Amino acid sequence: MRIVMCILILFFSWSCHQREDKSSCEDSIGVYTFANYPIGTAINFEKLYTDSLYTEIGTKQFNSITAENIFKAEYLHPKETEFNWVQADSLVNFCTENNKRIHGHTLIWDEQLPTWIPEFKGDSADWQELMKNHIQTIVHHFKEKVKGWDVVNEAFNEDGSLKKTGWLIKIGDDYMEKAFNYTHAADTSALLFYNDYKLESNPVKRKSVITYLNKLRNKGVKIDGIGLQMHISTSKPTVSEIASAINEIVQNGYLVHLSELDISINPEGKEIELAKELFVKQAELLGAIVSAYNHVPNKYQYGITFFGICDKYTWIRSYLKRQDYPLLYDDNYLPKPAYCTLKEALKSK
Ligand code: G3I
Repeated sequence: MRIVMCILILFFSWSCHQREDKSSCEDSIGVYTFANYPIGTAINFEKLYTDSLYTEIGTKQFNSITAENIFKAEYLHPKETEFNWVQADSLVNFCTENNKRIHGHTLIWDEQLPTWIPEFKGDSADWQELMKNHIQTIVHHFKEKVKGWDVVNEAFNEDGSLKKTGWLIKIGDDYMEKAFNYTHAADTSALLFYNDYKLESNPVKRKSVITYLNKLRNKGVKIDGIGLQMHISTSKPTVSEIASAINEIVQNGYLVHLSELDISINPEGKEIELAKELFVKQAELLGAIVSAYNHVPNKYQYGITFFGICDKYTWIRSYLKRQDYPLLYDDNYLPKPAYCTLKEALKSK
């Protein structure tokens, strides 16, 4: 009997130690509470109402919400004369009830459009009216609820040239200027952003974007900030490249939004063994990025938004079909080392 008791005591202390290991980075307090700028996440709307743990973590850990998909044209404006507010209003209500900022992603992009837009037949003036109606109907609907909009998303090529999107071809080179002006006219309280990928790693693209936006701003167009999407990996870009990008944006007087942050540990899509070192490297990189962001003057800190809550729902798996683990929580909703370093880096600001 005594031997059995000893074995049970040993097992119990071992299993507690295991939980302690797993919960060494405990997440009982929302990580956003350690920051003096918003810590956000992109929300997969479907999971918000079907996965209670997803919603519990999303509600507790973040104070800014971006819709991963349902604020895009194909969901909000499915037909030329039809807007669908149901899901987006439900997300806005969730944010209001839980005192969370909502960031609008995105008004003008050349992806995830409803079929009627690329099929629309009209001259430049007709297309301009289409874009104005699209933008102003949506922005009016969410007036003073959506704090900031990605007015235009991903409009530049890697070489710094303007993408020949349908919007540019149909409306002309000044379509972005019009888009920002239409948005501002519909909600003068909203902060207006240009959002793009690889601005943190491609100085040619970044310089071209900033030069272009500065020209618009010098004409009186309201442009408040730039979204660095930050779909990065543990292999690139370096922290110093990211810090240079952030500083260049601040020096040009724009708010900086790390708008879609995820850190791939498997950018080449290989069959990988999940060694702890991979997650330590991911955590160290995140800690260094947050430390760099902490040095941004607070008036330019729009916040850091992760592009999802847990690895199992990352777009990298569903859209890129790649085995990856880029976010703060693992497939079992346990906080990863990256969560720990985020919390420590925010506390040490
Ligand atoms: O909603 C349909 C569903 O009804 C259908 O059953 C399913 C299978 O066909 O598709 C679902 O739509 C998918 C949608 O995500 C919602 O899950 C689309 O096929 C899929 O293309 C779409 O992918 C999104 C992608 O943008 C589109 O380019 C990703 O979820 C989303 O994370 C990703 O987000 C973009 C940002 O908006 C801009 N920056 C880059 C980022 C990653 O590409």
